[in-house]
Amino acid sequence: ELKIFKEYFRSAMQTRVGMLTRILRFVLKRKGKELRPTLVLLSAKAVNGEVSSKTYRAAALIELLHTATLIHDDVVDDANKRRGFFSLNALWKNKIAVLVGDFLLSRGLLMALEYKDFDILEITSNAVKLMSEGELQQMEKARTYNLDEALYYEIIRKKTASLFGVCLQSGTASVSEDKELQQFMYNIGETIGIAFQIKDDLLDYGITKNDIGKPKGIDLKEGKITLPLIHALNRSTKSERRKMLAIIKKKTKTDADIKTITSWVLQHKGIDYAIKEMNKYAEKAKQMLNELPGSPAREALKNVIDYVITRNK
Ligand code: IPE
Ligand code: IPE
Ligand code: MG
Ligand code: MG
Repeated sequence: ELKIFKEYFRSAMQTRVGMLTRILRFVLKRKGKELRPTLVLLSAKAVNGEVSSKTYRAAALIELLHTATLIHDDVVDDANKRRGFFSLNALWKNKIAVLVGDFLLSRGLLMALEYKDFDILEITSNAVKLMSEGELQQMEKARTYNLDEALYYEIIRKKTASLFGVCLQSGTASVSEDKELQQFMYNIGETIGIAFQIKDDLLDYGITKNDIGKPKGIDLKEGKITLPLIHALNRSTKSERRKMLAIIKKKTKTDADIKTITSWVLQHKGIDYAIKEMNKYAEKAKQMLNELPGSPAREALKNVIDYVITRNK
């Protein structure tokens, strides 16, 4: 089924523009984990026993949108690596990366329109709005260094978890008209997405020694405050907090600065705390899945959740 999805995905990447053809070939070669299409396919199977052609179109639309988001995100974060190789902005500069991201997004929307998948379009467009809002809120907060746990969750719910919600919701919508079930599946996906982003933020701390295929320590460098740091800030004395914030606020942080912050976060059990929170959401999502009738697809979804929280990239 993932192979068939790939054909749908590939077919959207056609253009007569020479430069774009070369760039799209590059994009196609560096595939990611394909977690979102996997979730779309499995959710359709979990509620209906089998997928439909609409399921494949939903999976392709979401992966196109996700790819566009990553290309734009690397411009926003000024990141030079993605999926183990140079990012588009590193190879072709920001201007081109922005336009290629727009192209992929519009191709996804057009594919859904062509088949009049209006419900999928509606579900997905809502997530696109939330993702942009979340990324902007995060930038706003990175400027003021004013972030508490509630706001952290609000931001990751929007920028990441909304699309995971849409994966399960649209997978369901591709095979069932039951709105209540669609919403329930969205909630499960959103819960998985929160665990996913906490894990992503943990990977950025570079605690694992392996290559994660994208830069590490970039969140701290960009002043992005994530859960481990929030916890450490909440647990420290006023003067310690002031000292650490002074380092975090430095415009250019040295590797030694990053190390100082990281070991301070470790000392205040910020990593342990984030892991605990992540596991809580993963467990919650599995429990919600248990309300569906038993099936191999449902068990596979639980395996995906385990993968999300144990993955090394
Ligand atoms: C990365 O998503 C972007 C985030 C929401 C943190 P993935 O880690 O799923 O990216 P790929 O598609 O596997 O590269
Ligand atoms: C996730 O944020 C990107 C979006 C959901 C738009 P990050 O900036 O943390 O993602 P990575 O770590 O670069 O993949
Ligand atoms: Mg990024
Ligand atoms: Mg990240």
